[in-house]
Parts: sequence; C-alpha cells; structure tokens
Amino acid sequence: MIRPFSLSDLNSILQIENRSFPKSPYDWTTFLHLHTLHPDTFLVCCIAERLEEEVCGYIIFTQDGHIISIAVHPLHRRKGIGAQLLRRTMQTPHLQKVWAEVRRSNLGAQAFYSKMGFQIVGVVPNYYGNEDALIIQRTL
Ligand SMILES: CC(C)(COP(=O)(O)OP(=O)(O)OC[C@H]1O[C@@H](n2cnc3c(N)ncnc32)[C@H](O)[C@@H]1OP(=O)(O)O)[C@@H](O)C(=O)NCCC(=O)NCCS
Repeated sequence: MIRPFSLSDLNSILQIENRSFPKSPYDWTTFLHLHTLHPDTFLVCCIAERLEEEVCGYIIFTQDGHIISIAVHPLHRRKGIGAQLLRRTMQTPHLQKVWAEVRRSNLGAQAFYSKMGFQIVGVVPNYYGNEDALIIQRTL
C-alpha cells in the first residue's frame, strides 16, 4: 500500500534512511521540513507484517517532478517496491518529466532508474562535495 507520510512513520523512515544513505542521511528535522513543504508528495510504502503495518520505503518529490529522495529498506529490496513508488510518482497528473540526482558511485540506483526508463541527461561536478552527481530524467 502506498499512502502519504504521517508523523508516526518518522522512526521507520529514519531507520530506512540510515541504512540507505550511511554517508549523508537526512535527519528528523529535514524530514519534518520536507513533509511541511511537500505534504502530498511525500509517500510511504507499507506492507502487512504479522497483522501490523510495516513501512518499508518512501519517496519524496516536488510538484514539478524532482525526486528529492527514494529509499527502500535493505531487507525489502528487489521486490518491486521502489518501482511501485516511482510509478506512482510518474502517474501524478500534469507531470511532464521526472528527474533526480544520483551519485556516480551509486550503480544500484543507476541500474534501477535505467530499468525504469530514465536516461542520464547531465553531470554536476562535485555536487556531493567530492563526488559528481549524474542527472537522470524520464520524459512522460
Ligand atoms: C534504488 C532503490 C530505491 C531501488 O528499490 P527496490 O525496491 O530494490 O527496486 P525494485 O525491486 O523495484 O527494482 C526494479 C528493477 O530495478 C533494477 N534494480 C534495482 N536495484 C538494483 C540493483 N541494486 N542492481 C541492479 N539492478 C537493480 C532491477 O532491474 C529491478 O528489477 P528485478 O529485481 O526484477 O531485476 C533501493 O535500492 C534503495 O533504496 N537504494 C538505496 C537508496 C538509494 O540509492 N536511492 C536512490 C538515490 S538517487
């Protein structure tokens, strides 16, 4: 199930974040700020685990299609959850394109975006301090 983020999801999101981006995780204030800015486009994916709901991934994007962040808990990767979150994003009415920045070293994410029909359209040198960002985009 995909639904908007709510404050009770924060602990689960922080766990996913710390496991997914150990070099530069967002902290709780950043997530609260992003939620304030993008309440309708901060989505979480949940699965039913022993009759309880478990948050296993999230995506945050802007109204014009910039993917600010996407992550899936390591225990739930390669099950199609990231693809579902991204497809939901691409179904947003009136979006003309979606794009994101990806670390040059993040080959897993690059393979994921490529499978989802994205192409590399640019490079921002040293975007992450000492590492370039690839700009990947899909026109809808
Ligand atoms: C990138 C990420 C969100 C993908 O989520 P996911 O739920 O595992 O992705 P899916 O299961 O939907 O993958 C869909 C397809 O993408 C490709 N893919 C996904 N992850 C891949 C990887 N690590 N290596 C190669 N291909 C990959 C595969 O073709 C996959 O289909 P398949 O499993 O049938 O072969 C997840 O790996 C993640 O959270 N990574 C850490 C955070 C991150 O790097 N976010 C992106 C920053 S820009």
